[in-house]
Amino acid sequence: MASSPVLEIDGLTTSVDGLKILDGVSFSVGDGEVVGVVGESGSGKSMTALSSMRLLPNSVAVTSGRILFEGTDLLGLSEAAMRRIRGDRIAMIFQEPMSSLNPVLTVGEQIVETLTWHRGMARAEARRRAVELLDLVEIPAAAKRISDYPHQLSGGMRQRVMIAIALACEPKLLIADEPTTALDVTVQAQVLDLLRGLRRELAMSVMLITHDLGVVAEFADRVVVLYAGRVAETAPVKALFRAPAHPYTQGLLASIPPLDGPLAQPRPIPGSVPALADMPGGCRFHPRCAVAIDRCAVVQPPFFPLDPGHETACWLAGAGGVP
Ligand SMILES: Nc1ncnc2c1ncn2[C@@H]1O[C@H](COP(=O)(O)OP(=O)(O)OP(=O)(O)O)[C@@H](O)[C@H]1O
Ligand SMILES: [Mg+2]
Repeated sequence: MASSPVLEIDGLTTSVDGLKILDGVSFSVGDGEVVGVVGESGSGKSMTALSSMRLLPNSVAVTSGRILFEGTDLLGLSEAAMRRIRGDRIAMIFQEPMSSLNPVLTVGEQIVETLTWHRGMARAEARRRAVELLDLVEIPAAAKRISDYPHQLSGGMRQRVMIAIALACEPKLLIADEPTTALDVTVQAQVLDLLRGLRRELAMSVMLITHDLGVVAEFADRVVVLYAGRVAETAPVKALFRAPAHPYTQGLLASIPPLDGPLAQPRPIPGSVPALADMPGGCRFHPRCAVAIDRCAVVQPPFFPLDPGHETACWLAGAGGVP
């Protein structure tokens, strides 16, 4: 990558009761880049986002690693300094918009609050900007809707409000955790289109967390595949779909209906992500892997570079490719 990354996660280990939820996760998000983070439920996607925002639940803590945002390690900042960055330079959209909107404030007040707190805007000016932002996220009759409370809006409209709040301060980095999962398919497509347009307009970098590979194919430049708290594979989006290297990635791709081409029956990966207290040694995927060799059960695979920007933690890829 030509310019230095906006976000660089380096060896991030996040633990609860001495058990590693994330174990040495490393990846970066480049300037203006959309990086998709995928993996089954429980693979650590949200924990990666919450670690980066320093919004982990009390029992969970980052135990090693660095999270560099524009070169500064967020883990070394005071809580006051972090509060100035959060919602301003880095914004996050949460999966469930209802739980992250304040039910007793109108949507306008919530945007105004962000702008007065982070930007020191006068209230009248902030109100004008709030209407502009609601327009930007294509909420019809924005000047009226601004006086609505969250419960008066549909799910899709609430998610748009969340996006408007996230974009209020024109963040450098947007972390979107399953931004469309709670929405029905038509609204999902609208919200994704909207995000796509906005990220271009605002030249934002985006960490897009999703379990939906279709969303990744359409939206991401690069993909990070997480499995049981470790990165299994990182690749440019086209390479990931054309030549997935890790058996887990191959399994994920086989478990969705093909995007085009002849209809094949989706095949789910047998088994499930191991529980935290029950992590297998070696490669954490080996008990579910159809092509595992003896070494996979014993030694954690390092990253093997395949093509530029494409690497995978699989012994078989290192030995010349998975059969
Ligand atoms: N508050 C918590 N305390 C302890 N462990 C937690 C907590 N929240 C999540 N975990 C554990 O952390 C691991 C990763 O969870 P995480 O929520 O990051 O998964 P995810 O990839 O976001 O899954 P999903 O697709 O279901 O959102 C899981 O094993 C989960 O049980
Ligand atoms: Mg999650």
